[in-house]
Amino acid sequence: MRFLVIGSGAREHALVLAASHDPAVTAIACAPGNAGTAALAEPLGVDLTDPSAIAALAEQWRADLVVIGPEVPLVTGAADAVRKAGIACFGPSAAAARIEGSKAFAKEVMTAAGVATAHSEVVDNPAHLDAALARFGPTWVVKDDGLAAGKGVVVTTDVEQARKHALMLLDGGHPVVLESFLDGPEASLFCLVDGRTVVPLLPAQDFKRVGDGDSGPNTGGMGAYAPLSWVPDGFVGDVVERIIQPVVDEMAERDSAFTGLLYAGLALTSDGPQVIEFNCRFGDPETQAVLALLRTPIAGLLHAAATGTLAEQPSLEWADGSAVTVVVAADGYPGKPLVGDVITGGEAEGVLHAGTRRREDGAVVSSGGRVLSVVGTGPDLEAARAEAYERVSRVSLAGAHHRTDIAVRAARGEVSVPEA
Ligand code: AMP
Ligand code: GLY
Repeated sequence: MRFLVIGSGAREHALVLAASHDPAVTAIACAPGNAGTAALAEPLGVDLTDPSAIAALAEQWRADLVVIGPEVPLVTGAADAVRKAGIACFGPSAAAARIEGSKAFAKEVMTAAGVATAHSEVVDNPAHLDAALARFGPTWVVKDDGLAAGKGVVVTTDVEQARKHALMLLDGGHPVVLESFLDGPEASLFCLVDGRTVVPLLPAQDFKRVGDGDSGPNTGGMGAYAPLSWVPDGFVGDVVERIIQPVVDEMAERDSAFTGLLYAGLALTSDGPQVIEFNCRFGDPETQAVLALLRTPIAGLLHAAATGTLAEQPSLEWADGSAVTVVVAADGYPGKPLVGDVITGGEAEGVLHAGTRRREDGAVVSSGGRVLSVVGTGPDLEAARAEAYERVSRVSLAGAHHRTDIAVRAARGEVSVPEA
């Protein structure tokens, strides 16, 4: 199978790495990729915002399966274009990708499917903002209705800060979503979906804030671990039955059947799991931890999801133990990152690349905010953490920062679901 991955993050490096271990895969390409993917996959150029260019590239390279990593090409219809060219594609149509691209659409589907989620209101008129804010709180959740790479959300106990963020979004012409605050630890559950059938992967947890102890602004994700030792028995089956399958069925009925990876961002509240958001693609950095434990060859699995045959697949096989991933970010991230600095030690085992490129003189340099995802595995979380951080200590990038507390509370048994 000729396996083409679209995207350039550490998530795509993890997909390429998994495909490189799959005996069914005869060739791998990654477009546009990064310095890390280029070691395993043929680097191809492409404009991620141009669906027809992605489809043309897939035809030219004679791809048997195209796996689309990021949300932007999915929301703009890249999967539709690839399928129209007669090539199997892992990723939802533009219609189905609205589950991530429009929070208002996601809420509508969830309401119709009877799925538990935060109460929300859309505000598009600044004159209605204060009255709407008064209906929420004492913790306010203010979101951009469109795609914002995880950075459009402010969660605050300060109504002035909530108002300021909402006005800033409204000034930019973006409708604002206000939501009730969901208390409880967060979990990410990734499910392979072929339109109807749902196959869940191991649950993971992401660390969204930039600093240790969940301090500072939200980012795209600073680290992750899998699986989750602290979730209640039957958690995954329960979420599939009560949340994922109803949403998948509802989407199929609306002519926006979902094919690809449906990612539920959940809060485990005292009232049970509730949806914070859906994403229409593998999460980054959770994928780097989850795929480190997957033993089932990946290409056949993603191909089955792309072609409606997931129900015929044998059960997934997983390695025992845990995986931890730590993101190494550039100076300035999540604001404007410094780029162009030389990275050393980036070619070691467990080091996945995101914002990196190879300079003409051969040096690997930073080219984005999240630069590397460093993965460790082990028989338990403590061992996986130790391996990940030992590997982080061997890479160097001037001014880089990373969180030192990824998975530490879970490893100590300090994470729990609030009692009803
Ligand atoms: P989103 O972009 O919707 O994933 O939100 C980013 C982060 O903001 C989430 O991972 C949560 O940590 C937080 N968040 C979003 N919505 C809520 C909510 N309703 N209640 C509590 N936290 C939230
Ligand atoms: N892990 C957060 C995201 O992929 O959106």
